[in-house]
Amino acid sequence: MRMKMISKMKYKLLLFIFSVGIMAIVVGCQSKEQNQSTEVGQISISEIPLEKPMDAEIKHFDLVAKKETWNIKGTSFEAWTYNGTIPGEEIRVLEGDWVKVNLKNELDEPVTIHWHGMVLPNVMDGVAGITQNAVQPGDTFSYQFNALEPGTYWYHSHQNAFEQIDRGLYGALIVEPKEKSYDKDYVLMLDEWTIGENNRGMMNMMGDGGTPGEMDSQMLYQTFSVNGKSAPNIKPINVNFGETVRLRIINAGYQKHVLYLNDHPYRVAAIDGKDLANATLTSDVLMVAPGERIDLEFTENKKKDWYIDSPNAVKESEDIQIPVNISGIEEKSDASYRDEQNLIMIDMTNQGNMNPIIDNIIQKPDVEYTMDLSAGMGMMQRGMSYTINGETFPDTEPIQVKKGDLVKVTINNNSMLDHPMHLHGHYFQVISKNGLSLVNPLVKDLINIEPHEQYEILFIADNPGDWLFHCHDLLHATGGMVTAVKYNGYYSPFEIGGEYHNEPE
Ligand code: C2O
Ligand code: CU
Repeated sequence: MRMKMISKMKYKLLLFIFSVGIMAIVVGCQSKEQNQSTEVGQISISEIPLEKPMDAEIKHFDLVAKKETWNIKGTSFEAWTYNGTIPGEEIRVLEGDWVKVNLKNELDEPVTIHWHGMVLPNVMDGVAGITQNAVQPGDTFSYQFNALEPGTYWYHSHQNAFEQIDRGLYGALIVEPKEKSYDKDYVLMLDEWTIGENNRGMMNMMGDGGTPGEMDSQMLYQTFSVNGKSAPNIKPINVNFGETVRLRIINAGYQKHVLYLNDHPYRVAAIDGKDLANATLTSDVLMVAPGERIDLEFTENKKKDWYIDSPNAVKESEDIQIPVNISGIEEKSDASYRDEQNLIMIDMTNQGNMNPIIDNIIQKPDVEYTMDLSAGMGMMQRGMSYTINGETFPDTEPIQVKKGDLVKVTINNNSMLDHPMHLHGHYFQVISKNGLSLVNPLVKDLINIEPHEQYEILFIADNPGDWLFHCHDLLHATGGMVTAVKYNGYYSPFEIGGEYHNEPE
């Protein structure tokens, strides 16, 4: 039996070797004066009220964090799960529901649950050391919130998240709309693993070149999975001829994944849980960044079974092959296979329109923050460090706001790696890329910044508390690439470390 994870020590050693080897391409750290606001506000985030609307229906779920033997590609290993499966038990509710989730921790180490993408009162955000204390072995914790906005979300632990999500502590949270535009609904959760013959390692990676921007996380994994299984064990999508299918794709891993529908036309229905209006039909290759969610819809028009695969530069993408089985027709043709052709990568900015959350983008922001992302060697004895303005969390400078502020963040990627930056508790509007304004602004909670790209985003500070803003390649988050949005007048009574061993990333 092989463990899924490389131990942290081994990971650090690999990172060290890797870092020395390609030092030349890594942009060094910058130093910047520290300007930490340590002023304590008057209102504790625990005092922000949770208001259940009178008419909201209550939906109750129990999630038990526990070990379970899991099998991928014939290799069994000990996974950490919610309710014994990977992904964890799906939470599916109807828009407007009041969701109550009781978490019981049967693992030997503390856990939490974060509701990725949900805009909730701060105290329900599930971040250890920021919005709660980590739930200790044997303890329980009860989450409750209003599922107001229909869409695709996911949940995962936010205690030692790098390791805990890697071992399987994640699941889908689906808020169904009252009116549906589709007949069938499937969730596809993507992930990477270290199981099987040999660890991929740096040499191995250099062999096929890998995909750009992920040299570090690619060293760690050599097996890809969809809903906890690799091809040929991935559960098929079953559809009747003529039906419309909604695919809810969630990337729970630390590498970007591409999916190709083998020429089947589809439209992008939603990005990060938010619907796209007047989306156009396409058959281009889709890219999903770590932590990102993309919903697709297609209407079945083929008379033969087909599959969704992953035309990616790395060998392990062969593990992603999702069968689409068709019924409801008299006679089926033979299965179709992809003919190699010039595959085009989708551009999300021309797929349709999103409802802007900020009307007048020429309004002057109240707060402006520049986030320079870098990767460098050996700060804080961590091996590789991943920095924001030259600092690693918790020493990064927070984005200090007051309620009602319009906040502009300019994100510069000064490294050779991708950084999928995710903001908790708010949606932001992406207004420009590399200095050019977007004709169709995107409304997201996660934006993947490729090497040397610059994005400008705007958000309204309308949800008081302490909210993380971090890279969702959690190798980078655990290596320091985390900051927080903090509201004047509010404070968190929780602390990193301490007797609860709070360790958000
Ligand atoms: Cu998936 Cu801090 O988030
Ligand atoms: Cu990153």
